[in-house]
Amino acid sequence: MNVNSIESYNKNINKILITEEEIKTAIAAAGKAINDIYDGRPILLVSILKGAYVFMADLCRAVTVPCEIGFMCAKSYYSGTVSSGAVKITMDLEQDITKYHVVIVEDIIDTGRTLNDVVKLLKARNPLSLKVITLLDKPSRRVVDFKADMALFTIPDYFVIGYGLDCGEYYRNLPYIAEYKEQE
Ligand code: IMP
Ligand code: MG
Repeated sequence: MNVNSIESYNKNINKILITEEEIKTAIAAAGKAINDIYDGRPILLVSILKGAYVFMADLCRAVTVPCEIGFMCAKSYYSGTVSSGAVKITMDLEQDITKYHVVIVEDIIDTGRTLNDVVKLLKARNPLSLKVITLLDKPSRRVVDFKADMALFTIPDYFVIGYGLDCGEYYRNLPYIAEYKEQE
């Protein structure tokens, strides 16, 4: 990736796929759905860093049930196309989740490996309940059978940036979701 000039940095933002307005509308609806599901019961929103930090910030403000937030950083290891099921937690939750209805907040589900492993790990800790909400879903890329309880947008096999998602750590601060394409 070339960030030596602002022109090439901007040119690599190939096209906007989901606008700020569309994200805002979808998050308002997701917040309402969460409020309906939990119906006044307190929840713990768990964001997987770093990609989901922007989504988490907006989603938690669309929720009106009592809500705590938590963060974890996870990396999945696998050989070839087979997940080892061994997820490495580089930063763990501070909460003991046995007392919580947990909602995992993720930016994107691609191969499904990361969330498949994180869900296994958190289920083993016996939360009151566990659901997964993702901003984006790329089902055509799946290598492990994993389905979120709620996916706000289903997208084709594009590499996307913005609204928390990066390419080489850049572009997370874009307020929309765009396709990344390196220009010749
Ligand atoms: P999975 O384990 O393959 O589902 O990987 C999910 C993780 O890969 C996400 O949490 C993202 O951090 C990253 N990722 C997958 N697709 C994209 C993309 O199109 N843009 C940016 N990051 C992505
Ligand atoms: Mg992520």
